[in-house]
Amino acid sequence: MKIAVIGAGYVGLTTAACLAQVGHEVFCSESDTGKLSKLQNGVMPLFEPDLATVVDDNREAGRLTFGSTEDAIDWGKAIFICVGTPPLPNGDADLSSIEAVSRSIAKRVKGYRLIVEKSTVPVQTGSQIRKHLAIHSTYGLDYDVASNPEFLREGSAVGDFLHPDRIVVGVESIRAAELMREIYEPIIEQKFVCPIHKNCGTAKENAFLVTDTNSAELIKHASNSFLAMKISFINMVSDLCEVVGADVSKVSQGMGLDPRIGNVFLNPGIGFGGFCFPKDVQAFIRIAEKSGCNFALLREVEKINQQRIVHFVDKVRKELWSIRGKKIAVLGLAFKPNTDDVRFAPSIPLIQTLIDEGAVVSVYDPEASSKAKELLPTIPYCGDPYEAAAGAEAILIVTEWDEFKTIDWKRLAGVVERRLIVDGRNIFNPPEVAAHGFHYISVGRLPALPESQV
Ligand SMILES: NC(=O)c1ccc[n+]([C@@H]2O[C@H](COP(=O)([O-])OP(=O)(O)OC[C@H]3O[C@@H](n4cnc5c(N)ncnc54)[C@H](O)[C@@H]3O)[C@@H](O)[C@H]2O)c1
Repeated sequence: MKIAVIGAGYVGLTTAACLAQVGHEVFCSESDTGKLSKLQNGVMPLFEPDLATVVDDNREAGRLTFGSTEDAIDWGKAIFICVGTPPLPNGDADLSSIEAVSRSIAKRVKGYRLIVEKSTVPVQTGSQIRKHLAIHSTYGLDYDVASNPEFLREGSAVGDFLHPDRIVVGVESIRAAELMREIYEPIIEQKFVCPIHKNCGTAKENAFLVTDTNSAELIKHASNSFLAMKISFINMVSDLCEVVGADVSKVSQGMGLDPRIGNVFLNPGIGFGGFCFPKDVQAFIRIAEKSGCNFALLREVEKINQQRIVHFVDKVRKELWSIRGKKIAVLGLAFKPNTDDVRFAPSIPLIQTLIDEGAVVSVYDPEASSKAKELLPTIPYCGDPYEAAAGAEAILIVTEWDEFKTIDWKRLAGVVERRLIVDGRNIFNPPEVAAHGFHYISVGRLPALPESQV
């Protein structure tokens, strides 16, 4: 099918490349001219594992083209809207980009289009789009609007898109349901050349869930809010573990053995970030408030998350006594490993707090430095963890990159001023760190003293 994808961000570019990979003819647009010209010249504007290969292969095969939004709208029978929906100051999702794309479609198109909202949007956005299209339709646009929330995770976006646990499709007509089914048929049947695996398993018939548009929109916000709640819950438990002398990793292991609870998303840390959980929880709270429903539970989820940075800095302060003038190395800027995304990453307010308290901060991240530089332009960005740690009185682990898990302890010990690690992601085993002569503070686990101090 001829498909237009509007917005070449983490979701749009993955959607465009993967839909081309499974056989569709895709035209992807991007309004940021810098990003667009990179894509047109074969340069990736973002880091996402496996995505560059899928983009390159499909561009070369003639199934993936980049250009303007107007050309994309003219091209696609189905138009996937993948623009950003950032939070407004009051927590509402900013839907102005969705509105602008809908208006362009209404003003340009003569004939039929299936308009697919893939961006995360508040419930009833589909019906707003329908209303908007009817008002602005200039040449007699015939349309369906479908909700198709995206569940991919940055860091494994290509695999998640091609092998999804679920494909949720919210529609109001049989025509829209059939077209959405046709688009996703190769993925449901798992019939495509997989760019990642040799053998990709069996068809995913049960993954295709058709609902009404309101329910599909709610599935996305409810899912992300539930996962955020799980993270805040275990963070709350980990605080108690620290006070009473228990090990949160054992507590979460024990909890996770119950299949009703499950063992994922039970890792404590310095809180959730990224372009989904913080803004989606906020938006969900606002939707509930406006609908007269009590979502105080989610307000607490947010509050616990905001306290994580404060709690983490308290630990650093307790160890260093005074932060002013001390050199502190921060390892990890991205909100999670395997991405360069720093939007709403805990690293940013953490570093800002340390700087405000007079610390001399140096940082290292394998992929996210150039994006972080736009937010924190004045700190030194180092080429490896050892350069960042040189002369440091504390090393803070902020993102759980694999590279940090295999650190060269001897080399690290040789460059630091003081052997202290404050780990916000629990990436090391306390006894292992202690064996290398480091004092190790992690989250919700008992501190390990270096052998010399035992
Ligand atoms: N990032 C994720 O992990 C993720 C996962 C699931 C859902 N989502 C949702 O998907 C949506 C997009 O997220 P993202 O992370 O890809 O955002 P992003 O900011 O990386 O990408 C959005 C892109 O759309 C472009 N854009 C805006 N208006 C445009 C227009 N009129 N024409 C063409 N391009 C336009 C922007 O320049 C930007 O490059 C959001 O609603 C987000 O909540 C994100």
